[in-house]
Amino acid sequence: MATIQQLSTRHVLGIKYLTAEDIHLIFETADRFKEVINRPIKKVPSLRDITIANIFYENSTRTRISFELAEKRLSADVVNFSASSSSVKKGETLLDTVNNILSMKVDMVVMRHPAPGAPQFLSRHIKANIINAGDGTHEHPTQALLDAFSMREQLGDLQGKKIAILGDIVHSRVALSNIFCLQKLGAQVKVCGPPTLIPKYIEKMGVSVEHNVRKALEWCDVANILRIQLERQDLKYFPSLREYALYYGVNKALLNSLDKRIVIMHPGPINRGVEITSDVADSEHSIILQQVENGVAVRMAVLYLLAASR
Ligand code: CP
Repeated sequence: MATIQQLSTRHVLGIKYLTAEDIHLIFETADRFKEVINRPIKKVPSLRDITIANIFYENSTRTRISFELAEKRLSADVVNFSASSSSVKKGETLLDTVNNILSMKVDMVVMRHPAPGAPQFLSRHIKANIINAGDGTHEHPTQALLDAFSMREQLGDLQGKKIAILGDIVHSRVALSNIFCLQKLGAQVKVCGPPTLIPKYIEKMGVSVEHNVRKALEWCDVANILRIQLERQDLKYFPSLREYALYYGVNKALLNSLDKRIVIMHPGPINRGVEITSDVADSEHSIILQQVENGVAVRMAVLYLLAASR
């Protein structure tokens, strides 16, 4: 029987903690699972004896459904927990909540939480494998993995490829995880947005900064366009959404005026007409729904490889 290759870690808390070898192993495993989920019978018995809790303290559409589908395609037992309809509302702590769930013999926890570092905190206190499904403005590792996997499908090896990340970088866990992931794969990364939405330290990470969207698009092979995260903005970072769309939004006229074809990505949810117009989001340049499809295969790979480390 073939030996299962293993990740260097028993949790996926952030891309920062994965090696390039881990990322390649996840991609190779996801390639196989993508083939499985396109078969008439999409289910495999790999996680038949594993129970997984999906613990969400923040809203989610894609990540939550994608993890649940990935778990069910692998034949895991799945329980879903939503903080908004739980005893968290009665004052229960994160650790008490999770320990109560674990005492029901849960093996793995997928957690989204508004506080940066919440999954790391949990990993120091409990035995289950933990997967970070987004912690505040910190990291969203499986989003970055599915983004890079989708880029790899379009461009092949990402070594030397030029990736522009556009939009609200300062509030984005997707941006940080993408930067770590793409750099580990040898890609060049540029961020673009208004100065107020670009972190001051970012060039120290080896990322270049551009404030002119046209120039960023002319430079890149792929534009990963991020949502303006109004729910995390206590201050006013730009005068109005209309002005943001005018100066930083990506529209079809702008794309058509480039002398090359670029790949358009967005992790969702989209603010149509703000950071991206519908005629770009729904165009032949866009791989937004392929990203969502790939999310299931990539999350199957992560769950499968972590289960192998148990
Ligand atoms: N991309 C992403 O994390 O989307 P959700 O918030 O809907 O999970």
